[in-house]
Amino acid sequence: MAQIIDGKAVANRLDEKSKAEVDAMIAAGMQRPGLAVILVGDDGASQVYVRRKIKACQKVGITSIEHRLPADTTQEDLLKLVHELNNDPAVHGILCQVPLPPHIDTRLVLRSISPDKDVDGFHPVNVGRLSTGTGGIVPCTPLGVMILLQSVIDGFKGKDAVVIGKSNIVGKPVANLLLDAECTVTVTHIYTHGLPDICRKADIIVAAAGAPHLVKGDWVKPGAVVIDVGITRVMDEATGKEQLLGDVDFDNCQHAGAITPVPGGVGPMTIACLMANTVQAAKALQS
Ligand code: GUN
Repeated sequence: MAQIIDGKAVANRLDEKSKAEVDAMIAAGMQRPGLAVILVGDDGASQVYVRRKIKACQKVGITSIEHRLPADTTQEDLLKLVHELNNDPAVHGILCQVPLPPHIDTRLVLRSISPDKDVDGFHPVNVGRLSTGTGGIVPCTPLGVMILLQSVIDGFKGKDAVVIGKSNIVGKPVANLLLDAECTVTVTHIYTHGLPDICRKADIIVAAAGAPHLVKGDWVKPGAVVIDVGITRVMDEATGKEQLLGDVDFDNCQHAGAITPVPGGVGPMTIACLMANTVQAAKALQS
């Protein structure tokens, strides 16, 4: 039977570590880490995410500074706010929740965040640091994937890894992190030929395609480790209830060495990694 990787438990352990680091910073006379969260408009899902992030800050002892702006906020005003936060010594992390309203140039706003306070790891400077293996802030979901892998794998060196999906926020950064860990990495996408056979050779599969149950049981080598980043909401016709489906046919992967469930796998790690990134940024900015 596959080991089920409990993302909630790993995330809780990471939160405890972050809290201990915050306590140690205070004891050493350093500033308490501060995370500024910007939410523009009233998108329902974004409000839920922002609420969860603020709650997580309370849990680990990070000061959260919320900036809720109306949907008609001008790009100029938003850039002005980011500029102020960049220069505010009490703010160590800045998170601008996306999607932003369509009249705002999202890439321009994300680029205006100081790379040292970019706790999402979306800034091109941090993307460049990651792709050259020179440190920087690692995006939260890819960092969470690596921590989950580390929780079940002894060493990465020489392992064959397949990353399904080439997005900028998951696929590409995960591939870079696995490369840095000395894996042999194959990145696949919608035009890849022979995906089942590519997966069959893999010691590690990270599925981040957003395609429900794309990865079938017979694509998974016995003993392989499978991390499922996909979450797609679908309506179960039989029950009329909404269901969350991962990219992996979990029920038919019991021969895997270890596997994440959906929900309860990668999901809980993302916010815990945001907290860890904020603590790391606060330390770096005060050193
Ligand atoms: N919207 C959905 N997920 C995220 C995230 O991780 N960061 C930001 N800034 N916006 C999001």
